[in-house]
Amino acid sequence: MENFRRIIQNNRAWAASMTHDDPEYFEKRATKQEPHFLYIGCADSRVPSNQVTGTEPGELFVHRNVANLVIPSDLNAMSVLQYAVEVLDVKHVIVTGHYGCGGVKAAMGNQSYGLVDHWLGPVRNVVRWNRAELERIEDEQARFDRVVELNVLEQIYHLTETPIVQNAWAKGKRPLLHGLVYDIHSGLLREIATGIDCQEAADRLAERRLSGVPAGPPPIAGHMTPPVLAGDELADAIAQRVLRQLSPSPASNGKR
Ligand code: CO
Repeated sequence: MENFRRIIQNNRAWAASMTHDDPEYFEKRATKQEPHFLYIGCADSRVPSNQVTGTEPGELFVHRNVANLVIPSDLNAMSVLQYAVEVLDVKHVIVTGHYGCGGVKAAMGNQSYGLVDHWLGPVRNVVRWNRAELERIEDEQARFDRVVELNVLEQIYHLTETPIVQNAWAKGKRPLLHGLVYDIHSGLLREIATGIDCQEAADRLAERRLSGVPAGPPPIAGHMTPPVLAGDELADAIAQRVLRQLSPSPASNGKR
């Protein structure tokens, strides 16, 4: 109970501090919201959407669930997406995964956790579809990290399959789609795919996804890599990376 009281006390202190600097802080935001971003993230308590993105109340429209999934039959997610795109007119939809994701880890193993096993089916598909790439990663942690990244790409692709995004793009409207992964060790967001703005760019992601060829950057080792861009630049970047990966020992790479 003491822990719960702490939440109420913190709330009082927070509200007081916000109005101390700006007496109109809440009033200004009470009548309307005009967020530029829809943030789709994991329910994990270590990845608070506003804090990690440095945003204020009113700036992010948020949907969170276990393993940051975008499932076209999920009434909740689709309602959020439609409202964000068609009513709030958000300019960007950001799928944010995170390293160390318990949902992704559960999907990679055989242990049963109950209802969530059903929910995580799409993550198991990500593992299956990318087996060729994943089997080449010897380090267990790196493989786990890579599934987190591939899962984000998969969810971006799911977004592009929705009539909501399709219709918006057909009208020549945004949103731009972005994929990020949050590093719980450093607090940094890593760009996996940015600025996906058309079906062509999404299809390129999908081709890589299904062929087992890396669709995003290789796993990081303590540093940030440049973002992968959409469209032709994305395809070029992927092609370059695949070539680099294959060139040292083409003979040992049976798949190609
Ligand atoms: Co998670």
